[in-house]
Amino acid sequence: MSNLQLFFFLIVIIINFINAPICSSLQHPSHFIRHGYFQQKYLEINRPLPFANLTPSCTLPILSHHFGDTIGLPPVSVAYAPPENCSWNHVALQFNASSNGVQYDRIAAVWLDGADLLRTSTAEPTESGGFWTVTKDVTRYSSLLAKQDISLSVMMENIVNDVYTGAYYVNLTILYYYIEEMNVPLSATRNNRKVRMVDDVFVDNSMSLYEKPADLIIPISGYNRGEGFWFRIRSDSELKGKSVIIPKNTYRAVMEICVSFHGLDEFWYSNPPDSYIRANNLTSQRGHGSYREVLLNIDRNLVGSVVPFPVIYPGGINPLYWDPIVSIGAFDHPSYDIDITPFLGDLLDGKSHFMGFKVLDSLPFWLLDANIVVSETGTKISHTSMKREYPLTITTKTWKPSREDGTIIMHSELEHERNEEKNWSNGHSHSYSSRLKNGQKCKGWMSVKDRIVLQGGATTEQSYSYNGEASTYSREIAAANGKLVHDTATYSKFPSVSAM
Ligand SMILES: *[C@@H]1O[C@H](CO)[C@@H](O)[C@H](O)[C@H]1NC(C)=O
Ligand SMILES: *[C@@H]1O[C@H](CO)[C@@H](O)[C@H](O)[C@H]1NC(C)=O
Ligand SMILES: *[C@@H]1O[C@H](CO)[C@@H](O)[C@H](O)[C@H]1NC(C)=O
Ligand SMILES: *[C@@H]1O[C@H](CO)[C@@H](O)[C@H](O)[C@H]1NC(C)=O
Ligand SMILES: *[C@@H]1O[C@H](CO)[C@@H](O)[C@H](O)[C@H]1NC(C)=O
Repeated sequence: MSNLQLFFFLIVIIINFINAPICSSLQHPSHFIRHGYFQQKYLEINRPLPFANLTPSCTLPILSHHFGDTIGLPPVSVAYAPPENCSWNHVALQFNASSNGVQYDRIAAVWLDGADLLRTSTAEPTESGGFWTVTKDVTRYSSLLAKQDISLSVMMENIVNDVYTGAYYVNLTILYYYIEEMNVPLSATRNNRKVRMVDDVFVDNSMSLYEKPADLIIPISGYNRGEGFWFRIRSDSELKGKSVIIPKNTYRAVMEICVSFHGLDEFWYSNPPDSYIRANNLTSQRGHGSYREVLLNIDRNLVGSVVPFPVIYPGGINPLYWDPIVSIGAFDHPSYDIDITPFLGDLLDGKSHFMGFKVLDSLPFWLLDANIVVSETGTKISHTSMKREYPLTITTKTWKPSREDGTIIMHSELEHERNEEKNWSNGHSHSYSSRLKNGQKCKGWMSVKDRIVLQGGATTEQSYSYNGEASTYSREIAAANGKLVHDTATYSKFPSVSAM
């Protein structure tokens, strides 16, 4: 098996400070809280899960929790067992949340038996209230979801006091679906290629047609339950990870990496170079430039790397942008796959091997963990190529109308895209492709005092298009000042495979 992966990345940042309190803008992360005037339903634009219209064969309400002043507390955990007498082969995790109160955006994770299933940010709520739903296809983790006597844990560190009044209410539900597995020949217009629909159902959330739910998931996560299952990476020099034994009958193994970035690196994609900070005598600690790379080591040899997508959390840049359409990836952070099958030759010796992670140029702190997705059988892949582009332009103009009261006026524009293109073939001259283009354009202004937005206005336009092997989806949506002003979507499954 030969396996070729190509990655291209592009991040462009322009930040202008006019008449600028440069120091303070850079020192204080571009992170604000706001007030609201009506109850809001927040949403992230994504294509629907292909089985979303079906009735689940079983529904398991697994956790209902109120995340108040949870800072420093361990994750909440509940016992998990799959529902009895239920036939299922596809699974969705549904995370519903609501809040009434002023609050920053907070990061949460859901782990099953230590495996990271969902990394999410909250929306930034207001005292008028807000709610949202995140639904993620977790079929990939079926082997874990079939296990008895394991625990499901959720962590969300939040601060509630006189100023930040918003607690988060979360309901977590697991939805089990049964979909007939079918071999459906595609119509002549699709070159008579055979595509198994069930595979495309699965593909929707992840890699490709050849990928089946894994036979085994090996979590690479921390032992420190008090601090969550993720590793906290505080600097460039830290290598965090775990030793594991890969079963000898492994045919294919993929390392799925989950990250979120915090503190001085929350806005790493806009951090200035250290030379700029020195040249301007700034005291900002947010440096190391605007490029980060997550490195995977096996037994301390570098085997792969990914550049994370710069997810802008919903309090970032101008929080009015993300009302009600949140930023790309905010509710369902992308995870990153590195195929480690080429290294199985060294790994299948029955001994334990150290899987370690570093974040190049990182500042405190990153929350990182991973899952090894192991298949014991599979089809031969002769070639995979992949291109990812994450262009990002942020322009910010800041000024102080008067020295005394500390109010700042900020005008900003933002263009952000997540573009991914994959081609693969199975060695029998069948080739496949999928293409995602997801872009946002935002414009707005605000007046800010003590990091609280006093006034402002913003518009957000988003264009999403996905072309896969068995379906296409596109959506154009726009919001102005907290209200949706335009929303059109088209979804088509190719006729011969739309038997659902
Ligand atoms: C599951 O099915 C078996 C056999 O049909 C039955 O004995 C059992 O009571 C069922 N369990 C539940 C929880 O429905
Ligand atoms: C979660 O939200 C979805 C969509 O609004 C809704 O259909 C579902 O009933 C909610 N589940 C719970 C447990 O609140
Ligand atoms: C969670 O479920 C409870 C009980 O069904 C419901 O009252 C509450 O509104 C739900 N909250 C969210 C955020 O879905
Ligand atoms: C930085 O500080 C040095 C020494 O105080 C001074 O000579 C230089 O002009 C300052 N540079 C800027 C851009 O303010
Ligand atoms: C995928 O295939 C198309 C058509 O052959 C080609 O234009 C494109 O560059 C390929 N993309 C990648 C990432 O290999």
